[in-house]
Amino acid sequence: MKLFALAAAALSITVAGAAADPLEQRQANMKERGQIMRILGPIAQGRADFDAAAVNEALAKLETNAEAAADVDALWPQGSDTGDTKAASAIWDDFDAYKAENEKYAQAVAAAVAAAPQDLAAFQAAFGPVGGSCGSCHEKYRNE
Ligand code: HEC
Repeated sequence: MKLFALAAAALSITVAGAAADPLEQRQANMKERGQIMRILGPIAQGRADFDAAAVNEALAKLETNAEAAADVDALWPQGSDTGDTKAASAIWDDFDAYKAENEKYAQAVAAAVAAAPQDLAAFQAAFGPVGGSCGSCHEKYRNE
């Protein structure tokens, strides 16, 4: 019984910790996406040389980053459209649609990783839906 209480207390601390600052958490997650895109974007646009190892490493990082944002309820709790955030209230108008948008992005990233592109054309084909997902989500769910 005592053990159970301890475990429950530990659990509630963990949960409270995770929910401590969802704004900071999701913005840090997004910033990391931006950093990874600064490697991939110029290669996709032909402004930097294609390097299969660098590309696949960056794609893997993008997948880990997307997995870290899979818990939409934790990162985008109801009411977190106030304060220092650009999250649009549209997110909570239809939360399921937002979850679907997040999932669509994660799948585009997973597909790009699975494609394991070895040349520029293959990379561009896999990368298109990833970049497109950033844009389509921001257009609908991020304030200017
Ligand atoms: C499912 C929706 C969604 C997807 C997909 C998405 N974003 Fe975002 N992004 C947002 C929202 C909403 C915000 C605003 C978050 C806030 O201010 O609380 C944001 C904010 C950002 C920011 C600003 C972070 C800050 O506060 O400094 C960057 C940079 C960013 N996104 C980059 C990207 C990139 C790059 C991709 C694709 C690789 C991407 N995002 C994919 C929804 C998304």
